[in-house]
Amino acid sequence: MRKITIAIDGYSSTGKSTVAKQLADWLGYVYVDSGAMYRAVTLYALQNEFIYNNELYVENLVAALPEISLEFKKSETGKAEMYLNGVNVAKAIRTMEVSEWVSPIATIPEVRRKLVKLQHAMGEHKGVVMDGRDIGTVVFPNAELKIFMNASARERAGRRFKELQERGDKVTFEEVLENVTERDRIDTTREDSPLRKAKDAIEIDNSEMNLDDQFHTILQLAKDRIAGRV
Ligand code: DC
Repeated sequence: MRKITIAIDGYSSTGKSTVAKQLADWLGYVYVDSGAMYRAVTLYALQNEFIYNNELYVENLVAALPEISLEFKKSETGKAEMYLNGVNVAKAIRTMEVSEWVSPIATIPEVRRKLVKLQHAMGEHKGVVMDGRDIGTVVFPNAELKIFMNASARERAGRRFKELQERGDKVTFEEVLENVTERDRIDTTREDSPLRKAKDAIEIDNSEMNLDDQFHTILQLAKDRIAGRV
């Protein structure tokens, strides 16, 4: 059967990764969480004091980019987990501190160039579902299926807050809402590869949709394209 490329973009905490993973599992495709790659670079910057005293030292980070090696490896349960220089950082990249710095880091063109190059290599043979902010516009502009996910900021912050609470993080709903809104602002207004709906992307607002409906809607779109019906 012919393999296609599926790009899933959208605002933060719209559930892109949940549906992208479901699709990849169902289709036997590779799943790539491109946000995890920006988060891993952010963690590296924090660990190496390129973020220090609330300041980001862009030039120093850019000079250190060749030292950063990123790869996804499958865990025992089959989940693709992010490795930074050989260390599993799947959990460490999900903290509020990383979430607060990741959007500024993602505005740096040299960081984007490095990650886009890796993403191209990962999707080289098609059969990939990649989620992020610029996948349908910049990384794979020829993807056969492009989805743009959306939901209200309050709904998204509520989902993220629940996740962080379940992990035992001590954050307030207001802090999470502020982080979500601020990331939307930076992601959509940055100069290099801002978050935009690609012209040929299909928009899905899942504020009121359950996960099952969302999965089946997108799976049908994928099947139509794989079969060449669209
Ligand atoms: O999907 P996420 O929330 O884990 O992504 C974290 C940040 O990384 C997001 O705020 C913007 C950035 N990002 C990006 O600029 N381009 C991508 N393709 C993926 C993520």
